[in-house]
Amino acid sequence: MEKLTNFQRFSQRKIKVSPQSDGRAILSTFSAHILNPGAERQGIHVEYPYISMKQPYPAYPVMEIQGIWLVQDFTEDNGSPLFAPYSQKLCSSPDPLHFSEVAKKVTGKAGSVVISHGLCWHDSSVNYSQQQRVAIVGQYVPKFIRPKDERLHKVQPEVLDGASPKLKQLLGYDFKSAVSKDMGQLIGRQVRSVG
Ligand SMILES: [Fe+2]
Repeated sequence: MEKLTNFQRFSQRKIKVSPQSDGRAILSTFSAHILNPGAERQGIHVEYPYISMKQPYPAYPVMEIQGIWLVQDFTEDNGSPLFAPYSQKLCSSPDPLHFSEVAKKVTGKAGSVVISHGLCWHDSSVNYSQQQRVAIVGQYVPKFIRPKDERLHKVQPEVLDGASPKLKQLLGYDFKSAVSKDMGQLIGRQVRSVG
């Protein structure tokens, strides 16, 4: 029950990147990221779905936004993520040399959230501390993108019964009605433009 509460609490936090984005995102993944002591770097990357696309990656629309909730403090030595500022504007896969020159470590207090563009080059750093470092990561994609973790969209009936409209939207359960609405708007625009 506690897991369900946390899932609902975190996954529905509003992540709005533009006036057009509200109500158009679904969850792609939602998971705990646990770095054990000594955990190595993950490797520089951009996020799904960009990694499955050909370059240059499209600048618009935004295909992925990630929220990293800090369950514990992110410090200089416990595996805090490295981000290359503004690299999302390059619309390309990471260049390791460029990354090593510009990447900055993102530290912060537990309870904070790091919001990043899926095209921003990033990596984890080494966990030199003696403790596990825990974060919760939610990845959000436009509703027309196939979620990376499709199991999220086949939840147990009791989860769905207790889900808010926002959670149902994030799980893709209102996709059918959303498609109808969008098609209606599209047809309306076409009719108006013809008339
Ligand atoms: Fe990542």
